[in-house]
Amino acid sequence: MAGLELRGIRKDYGGTAVLKGIDLSIADGEFVVFVGPSGCGKSTLLRVIAGLETVTAGDIHIDGTEVTRTAASDRGLAMVFQSYALYPHMTVSQNMSFALENMGIAKAEISSRVDRAARMLRLTDYLQRKPAALSGGQRQRVAIGRAIVRDPKIFLFDEPLSNLDAELRVATRKELAALHAEIGGTMIYVTHDQVEAMTLADRIVVLNGGRIEQIGTPLDLYNRPANLFVAGFIGSPRMNLLPTELVRGEAAGDVTGRAATLGIRPEHVEPCQEAEADLTVRIDLVEQLGGETFLYATGPNDTPLTIRCDGQSRLVRGDLLPVRFSRDHLHRFDAAGLACRPEPLLARSHS
Ligand SMILES: Nc1ncnc2c1ncn2[C@@H]1O[C@H](COP(=O)(O)OP(=O)(O)OP(=O)(O)O)[C@@H](O)[C@H]1O
Ligand SMILES: [Mg+2]
Repeated sequence: MAGLELRGIRKDYGGTAVLKGIDLSIADGEFVVFVGPSGCGKSTLLRVIAGLETVTAGDIHIDGTEVTRTAASDRGLAMVFQSYALYPHMTVSQNMSFALENMGIAKAEISSRVDRAARMLRLTDYLQRKPAALSGGQRQRVAIGRAIVRDPKIFLFDEPLSNLDAELRVATRKELAALHAEIGGTMIYVTHDQVEAMTLADRIVVLNGGRIEQIGTPLDLYNRPANLFVAGFIGSPRMNLLPTELVRGEAAGDVTGRAATLGIRPEHVEPCQEAEADLTVRIDLVEQLGGETFLYATGPNDTPLTIRCDGQSRLVRGDLLPVRFSRDHLHRFDAAGLACRPEPLLARSHS
């Protein structure tokens, strides 16, 4: 297994810059997840790392060795795509061993690697079946198995679970987490799924328009988004963003004179008595999920507000609800959209 270093990676297609200077260090054994809106360059970055695309500028190092111009087949990486291209005429076992036979690996070694991967992915009972006789989840596990048996330096996953139904996604996600714990490989994983990103990642890289917006542990990004983009992107339902003037005591600038926008997550908006309310909102939609309830509401100036409540709610559309914002959980952003960090504590003079 190996670490990865990207320095100043740029990629243009024709005259259009798709990656605009990516610097990133990934440690040996780390599970790193790329997230970002459609078209922001996630797959392109993965393909650049794999060697399936050349870079316009910058360089790539695997385990301290520069591979920027090394052919994909010589980088020792394995990529798993959204659509698992299995060979339909081969059994599961043959699908997994095919690449190893081409590499000239001894039969006994191949069969031990295939058996081990099959056991990890709970495919042992299916080794003699053809892909047509497998479920979508089982097929995707075979595709992952094909990557595992090659013992790659780094695993690259491009939305590997997005074709699976909800239940299979959850099951396969847990298998991937267990797999990472067992083999400890360096993994880079692209997803649109918030839960996958939050639960699988050691660190999440948030991409936007070909640049990195923020890198951090899932809870770092959730608790301390560096800017409005990350604040709105990480978390589902998304963070509420309000003009500062809407919130009592905030407009005066006693906390930070610079804040232009306040952010508050749905779970930090609390229904309260009228007298202590920051806002009174009108409920537009109630989503009862059983264990929790999401209230979608509108405040002054048509400002939308999402509220998450534990358990079940008696509220209905049209109800007026006074709410308070937990002061410990307010996020403040300046006019440029950057998080206002608390002023550094200056040493006080004891006069
Ligand atoms: N071969 C290509 N030629 C020209 N433009 C391309 C090529 N491949 C990708 N692009 C463009 O580069 C941008 C980034 O594409 P990319 O596939 O990396 O996005 P993505 O973040 O993976 O999006 P999604 O979440 O939809 O998969 C897009 O605007 C896309 O149209
Ligand atoms: Mg993509």
